[in-house]
Amino acid sequence: MNHSKVLIVEDHEDLIFTLKGVLKKEGYTVFTANNGEDAVEIIHNELIDLVLLDLKIPKMSGLEVLQKIKEYDPEIIIIMMTATKDARPAIEALKMGAYDYLMKPFELDELRQLLKNALETHQLRREVSRLRLSQEKIRPVHTIYGESPGIQKVRQLIRIVAETPRTSVLIQGESGTGKELVANAIFECSVRSVQPFVKLNCAAIPENLLESELFGHEKGAFTDAKSMKKGLFELADGGTLFLDEISSMRLNLQPKILRVIENQTFRRIGGTSDIKIDVRVIAATNTDLAEMVRNKEFRDDLYYRLKVMEIILPPLRERTDDILLLSKLFLEQFNREFHRSIHKLAPDTEELLLGYSWPGNVRELKNVMERGVILCQENTLKPDHLPIELKRDTEPVVSNDFLGKISLGEMEKRHILEVLKKVNGNKSQAAKVLDISRSTLREKLKLYE
Ligand SMILES: Nc1ncnc2c1ncn2[C@@H]1O[C@H](COP(=O)(O)OP(=O)(O)OP(=O)(O)O)[C@@H](O)[C@H]1O
Ligand SMILES: [Mg+2]
Repeated sequence: MNHSKVLIVEDHEDLIFTLKGVLKKEGYTVFTANNGEDAVEIIHNELIDLVLLDLKIPKMSGLEVLQKIKEYDPEIIIIMMTATKDARPAIEALKMGAYDYLMKPFELDELRQLLKNALETHQLRREVSRLRLSQEKIRPVHTIYGESPGIQKVRQLIRIVAETPRTSVLIQGESGTGKELVANAIFECSVRSVQPFVKLNCAAIPENLLESELFGHEKGAFTDAKSMKKGLFELADGGTLFLDEISSMRLNLQPKILRVIENQTFRRIGGTSDIKIDVRVIAATNTDLAEMVRNKEFRDDLYYRLKVMEIILPPLRERTDDILLLSKLFLEQFNREFHRSIHKLAPDTEELLLGYSWPGNVRELKNVMERGVILCQENTLKPDHLPIELKRDTEPVVSNDFLGKISLGEMEKRHILEVLKKVNGNKSQAAKVLDISRSTLREKLKLYE
């Protein structure tokens, strides 16, 4: 499928007619203008990828239009068309940022090939600017493991949702239950997977910047807006926008999000015209949105709009069937990563894993298994290799003869040195086990000499 939007700017009706026919057949969405002013207006209202621009057009010269487009959005690809044998204006256009030029009359095959190459370049540029903007890497593995009824239901919903590429989705679940994993899976399974997937954690961006992050701004929209900036809705055009932690979005921004979802148009901040887009929104939250709606902390209209398709991830403690399955899965995964061969869970290890409440859900289980694999030097994972929280009910944290005789600092020092010994002095692994950063570990070690 070819989703690119091409604008033809040309004053000869018959040439417009021919070009439009050819490009439509290639699958492009085609817009036309027979003068410079209309061309600039279309550029403002549509997310045009490429412009075929005649050098000689009424109202504004081709070069002027070129300059206006480049100022507005330097990523738009411009191919000039010229009838004169004089190459100077065409060369001038190249200097001003045109991608290439065609001498009239040209072969239609030449045109097709040039467009194809140019758009591939464009795709690459968009890719790069998108990668720069999305803070999180998209992980390659999106398999959602588990056989509990709750997870089977989730997998079934993902398949349904993937087939309805426009419907909004709301993913709810406690921290670490796999919300992002589900969002990735929906994207991967849907026909939108060849299109952009843009992620934004609404809680990670200062409130006052969130709006311009999402909608972008026009040049001069506010004091710092030195040039036009695209928002994430725009970068996600044709694809999917993942709004993580949507519950932390300010109330006054919410109606604007609702408007984009409903009308599929948006305005950059300071913009005067609506721009059409086609974006699916997937939102996630670990707080109960229904509760927030009752407390007037989240708008009900947006809530109902988002929850057209709702996926609820049950906490791990409510799907004990999955605990051992996931433990073994992560065990294998970390065996491979750390070149170990721990292939068994001791019976009392299994008991501890099953008995624990897992407030951090699957993420916590994964961390526990990673730490276990790092610490375990045998082929069976024993309770000793599990963190203290899992054993809290059964074992005292510190043996009784220590109590009252040892300071917290000394305790910390002994513990750190013990862990270091267990991981054969590997500081990265020790930091992981201790759940502190490497620099913190380094500082502490310096302190103890
Ligand atoms: N069913 C599952 N199968 C395999 N891995 C899983 C599963 N569920 C979660 N994980 C893993 O657990 C970790 C946490 O998942 P994820 O980041 O998707 O959770 P989250 O719900 O978005 O958490 P938070 O609310 O903290 O943002 C990830 O490493 C993910 O790959
Ligand atoms: Mg998450």
